[in-house]
Order: sequence, then C-alpha cells, then structure tokens
Amino acid sequence: MRVLVIGGGGREHAIAWKLSQSPRVTELLAAPGNAGTAQVAENVAVGAEDVDGLLRLAQDRAVDLTVVGLEAALAAGIADRFAEAGLLLFGPTQSAARIETSKAFAKDLMLRHGVPTAAAAVFDDYDDARRYVEGSPAPVVIKADGLAAGKGVVVARTKKDALDALRLQMVERTFGASGDRVLIEEYLEGEEVSVFAFVDGRRVSPLVAACDYKRQGDGDTGPNTGGVGAYSPPPPHLWNDDICREVRSRIIEPVVRALSEEGAPYTGALYAGLMHTGQGLKVIEFNCRLGDPEAQVLLPRLITDLADVMIGVARGDLTGVTLAWDPRPCVGVVLTSGGYPGTYETGFAIDGLDVEQPNAMLFHAGTRLDAASRRTVTDGGRVLMAVGLAPTLGEARKTAYDRAAVVGFERAFWRTDIASSERRRAPLHGKEASL
Ligand code: AMP
Ligand code: GLY
Repeated sequence: MRVLVIGGGGREHAIAWKLSQSPRVTELLAAPGNAGTAQVAENVAVGAEDVDGLLRLAQDRAVDLTVVGLEAALAAGIADRFAEAGLLLFGPTQSAARIETSKAFAKDLMLRHGVPTAAAAVFDDYDDARRYVEGSPAPVVIKADGLAAGKGVVVARTKKDALDALRLQMVERTFGASGDRVLIEEYLEGEEVSVFAFVDGRRVSPLVAACDYKRQGDGDTGPNTGGVGAYSPPPPHLWNDDICREVRSRIIEPVVRALSEEGAPYTGALYAGLMHTGQGLKVIEFNCRLGDPEAQVLLPRLITDLADVMIGVARGDLTGVTLAWDPRPCVGVVLTSGGYPGTYETGFAIDGLDVEQPNAMLFHAGTRLDAASRRTVTDGGRVLMAVGLAPTLGEARKTAYDRAAVVGFERAFWRTDIASSERRRAPLHGKEASL
C-alpha cells in the first residue's frame, strides 16, 4: 500500500514511524512532513491545509490510504473531498469534525445526550456576553467557539480578566471568525486525562489514555502551550478499568451514537479531554484526531499494526481489528525553542540526532533539513520529543531524559518534571490567568 501522512508535527512523525513498521505499507509519503518523517517517508512539499494540492498528490501518486494528523485539514473538509474522489482517508468529515471545530456544537450535543460536561452558555452578541459575565461569579472560562490553535481558552480568575478575554475575542477578533461566538463555561477543578478511541462510524475500539503537560514550566507554571510532555498510561487514580468502562459507556459511546443518529457518523481517532472533578468525570473538550504530544507516547506502546487499524477505520469496518498495547510505560519530553510559546528564533543547527540509545526514540516536530548547510535545523516552537519506553515509569522517564540530554541546539528548553510525581494543578494567580 502507498500511504500519505498529512501534517508536519511530532504526532505525524510518530504516525509515519509506526506505519513504516507495517508489512502492508510499501511506500510512505508525508506532506509537508519534517526532518523526522524524511527518515521513514518521502516528504512532499504540499501544505497540510492545501486540500486541492493534497488531492492532486494522492491521485498522481496513486495513494491507497491518506492519514490526516491535524485538525485544520479536517476542518477544511479534506475527508469529504477525498470521499467524493473515491479515495480512502483516515479522519472525520467536516460535519463530524464539528465535535472539535465548534465548541458550541459539541456542548449542545453533550447536553442533549446526557454526557457529563461543564455547564456553559453560548453567545453571539458581545453585549449579552458581557452582561452574563458581570452577573456570574468568577472564576469563569471563556472559550472561542472555533479553532484557535490551542489559544482560544481563557481561564479567568476575575471578572476583569473574563471581560478582557471577551473583548479580545468578540470585539478585537484576535482569532477572527472563531471568536464571533463564545462559550462562557463553569470553571472546573481537578486532574486531567486524555482518552483516545478509534471509531469506524459506529464501533468504538478499546480505549487508551495518556497525561499531557500543558504549562511551559516545572510545577505547572508559566503560560499554556500545545503540550510539552506526556506519559502513558496515566496513574491508577486517573485511569483504571472502572474509569475506562465509565468513559466508554457514558461519554464516548453516547457521542458516537449521537453523531451517527444526527447524520454525521464519526470515523477516525476521537480524543476526549476529561477532568476528574469533585462531582465525577467531566468532558473539557473533544478533538477529532490524536493528541500531540500524546500520540508520541501512545504509538510506541501499540503492538497492533497501525495500518490495519487505520484501514479498518477508513473503510468503516473495525470488526476483527483488535488493539494490543505494550503494558510498559512510555514517557516523552518536548524539547522547545527558548521563548516558546511566546516568540522564539529558528534555524539553529541540532546536534545529537543520530545517537542510538536502547528503548529511546526521538520524534521530530519543528525541524527541517537546511539545504545550504545540509544540517537539520530548528524550525518551530516544539522542536523534538525524546521518548523512553521501559518496564517502570521511573526507568521510562530516565530513558527519555537521557535521550534529551545528548541533543543540543541553541536556547533549547525543556521541563525537568515530566512524569516525576503526581500531577498537581498549579494555583492560578492574577495575570497568569490566561492559560
Ligand atoms: P482546551 O483548549 O479546550 O484544551 O483547554 C485548554 C485547557 O484549559 C484545558 O486543558 C484545561 O486545563 C483548561 N480548561 C478548559 N476548560 C476548563 C474548565 N471548564 N474549567 C477549568 N479549566 C478548563
Ligand atoms: N495535547 C493537546 C492536543 O493535542 O490538543
């Protein structure tokens, strides 16, 4: 089979790396890919949101299966276009992807189907939203309805912070049309877990879970990021057989059934971001894809052939596909450009990429091959992820950090406390309130 992976982050390197191990996959393409996907696939310079270009590429190269890693292409309707052209694709249609691309749609679906989630009110009008915030107790959470590159959520400690966030989203339109509609949501407190399922329209695979570190600094301090560390499986108080059964029957299955009944059957990877609150488990958000960086600590644990799973999903028939996971824990640390998630420089040469260490992996994210120097250089905020898979969480953590330690590039920065002890939500103070 010829397989095309769309995207160029750490998640897509991990997906391409895993697919490259499949005996079914004879040729692998990545668009646009990064210096890591280039090790296992042929990179093609077509942008991840250029649906026309990607369709042409898939047709020209007679691609048998296209795998979409990131939400932007799904939001743009790539699954619908490929289906019209008779091409097999892993990822939901534009209409099913609304579970991520419209928070108001997701909230309404959950409330109508009794899925536990934070209470929320939806506003299209700034003055109505402002009056609602003025009449509500703080803290409160302001969410842009549409995609905002992970930046559309503000946990506001004070009414002033909430009003500032509303003005930025609805009046100054920092996220464009994504903020024309906002959700004002009840603030939840607790520990988070990311849960994943493969869905073929009706059937739901066994679930798997990971923990993601969103804050930039040690001890969950500093600004919110796209995710700078992860491990899987989560500790038993966050993820065990009972919790897994509950998430399946009360959250994932009802949502998959509802989408199917409402004419938007879901196919692809479904990601539920959950919080363990004093009132039980609640959904924070759904995403229509695997997580980044969660995929980089999940896929090394996957024993099953990922191509079998993705073909089953894309064909709408997961029957007979089982999922086997390595019980060993996997830990990953993201090596970022100094300054991320704020401004940072790129183009620095990276050392230590080709060092082999047992049970360690290095997934690329923001990297590219520099034609002039013929070296791999930094090309984004999240640059690499060092991953360790070992019999205990402690050993996996040490393996990941040992791998990170031999990588060098100017102004490299990473957290030192990934998977080190129980996660604790850091108290939010004043200006730090914008997560
Ligand atoms: P999201 O972009 O939806 O993943 O949200 C980013 C982060 O904001 C989440 O991972 C949570 O840590 C936090 N968050 C989102 N919604 C709430 C909420 N209702 N209460 C407290 N924290 C939240
Ligand atoms: N790790 C968070 C995300 O992929 O959205």
